[in-house]
Amino acid sequence: MTAESMKQTGVTEFTNPNLSVLYSAEEIRSRIAELGEQITSDYQGHDLVVVGVLKGSCVFMADLMRAIDLPMTIDFMAVSSYKDGTVSTGDVEILKDLSNPIRGKDVLVVEDIVDTGLTLTRLLEILGSRGAASIRLASFLDKPEPRINKELKVDYTGFVIPNEFVVGYGLDAAGRYRNLPFIGVVKNPAEA
Ligand code: IMP
Ligand code: MG
Repeated sequence: MTAESMKQTGVTEFTNPNLSVLYSAEEIRSRIAELGEQITSDYQGHDLVVVGVLKGSCVFMADLMRAIDLPMTIDFMAVSSYKDGTVSTGDVEILKDLSNPIRGKDVLVVEDIVDTGLTLTRLLEILGSRGAASIRLASFLDKPEPRINKELKVDYTGFVIPNEFVVGYGLDAAGRYRNLPFIGVVKNPAEA
């Protein structure tokens, strides 16, 4: 739906009938509280560096970090995956690197979704060569079906989802829908 046709019908971005809600804002809130408690307990006595992978993780990161009751600093990376058509090739280009070294630090990488896992595999290799004390991965969503790297371990997962293209809560379709407070499935991508 275009902004113009939405204005005419009274439909808004959040009530767009082309979206079906998979996880509501309320369900997300309570799951993140659980994740935060788990992480807080696992890292007792440690300082954390929470590293968000831009742009998709921004909403999850903002909520998750406020659910973790530990001393922490945050940092961001931005990577672009080289895709051959729609298939990830596993090569990543670093568009924005960390602002600070992670040598000796306990690092929690925060992602929006793990799909084939190729982007994160490469990213974790890159970070793994920098001498961190530990590196773990938190992904809001895990879509195991298309996974190519079956070895990739997701330490903290919000929700395991079926093999569908989802949007909202930071995740986009062609740049749109990151601001939805829920996770939705686009029913008809041609009408998006
Ligand atoms: P992969 O794990 O290397 O295949 O790439 C994961 C990246 O693809 C994620 O960080 C997202 O940016 C994007 N992605 C994968 N599945 C979805 C989806 O269902 N909705 C939106 N973005 C997705
Ligand atoms: Mg991403």
